[in-house]
Amino acid sequence: MTPPGPETGSPQAIVAAGYDRIADTYLAWSGRRPSATRLHALALADAAIPPGGDVLELGCGAGLPMTAALARGRNLTGVDISEAQLERARANVPGATFLQADLTTLAWPAGSFDAVVAFYVLTHVPREHHAELLARIRRWLRPGGVFLASFGVEDDPGGVEADWLGVDMYFSHFSARVNRRLVAEAGLEIESAEVLAEPGDRFDARFLWVLARAPIAPVGSR
Ligand SMILES: C[S@@+](CC[C@H](N)C(=O)[O-])C[C@H]1O[C@@H](n2cnc3c(N)ncnc32)[C@H](O)[C@@H]1O
Repeated sequence: MTPPGPETGSPQAIVAAGYDRIADTYLAWSGRRPSATRLHALALADAAIPPGGDVLELGCGAGLPMTAALARGRNLTGVDISEAQLERARANVPGATFLQADLTTLAWPAGSFDAVVAFYVLTHVPREHHAELLARIRRWLRPGGVFLASFGVEDDPGGVEADWLGVDMYFSHFSARVNRRLVAEAGLEIESAEVLAEPGDRFDARFLWVLARAPIAPVGSR
């Protein structure tokens, strides 16, 4: 059964409608001329995720350049809330599997993935969902599985920014300090956590990039 779409007027509905309208603008801005920070994150993910691994990408967007690179030699499932983004992702990365869903509603059996990645997406997700989402990601990962994601660096309880690449866009995030704590409290072991700027970004964006792993020992034996 198809899960219900986001409630009208909800943060998720604003984000979905926004990306449906700016899919091409966003790709031209971000994907085809990737920033040094983006390429650094991609290199981290590529080095950490084993060949042949099962990868879940949250908020995959149009699939360039991250999804396409990580899907090479791996089984990648990309999730996005925007149908327009997914249409492009399916064309750009024909070897991957794609699913339209609000990532806060996802359910997978425990130990389904070798890696879960989320590039530039969690700052669009209402922050009251973040702790629960991280706990779920921890359960979806196999022992030693990789988690790599960008988080916000400042405290923002949530709100709509007008005229973000021409549309209303919702943002919400915790500070870098709180984000690091939430990742650790979810039971993920942090390997690196660095605040990096997006050079030349007209929004002056900075993100906390966290690389972490699910513990090797199963829950209950620690
Ligand atoms: C800034 S774009 C990043 C796209 C891609 N990850 C990249 O690296 O360019 C954010 C993406 O996350 C998706 N997104 C935002 N909130 C979401 C949610 N609650 N569930 C699923 N996808 C979401 C948007 O539709 C959009 O495609």
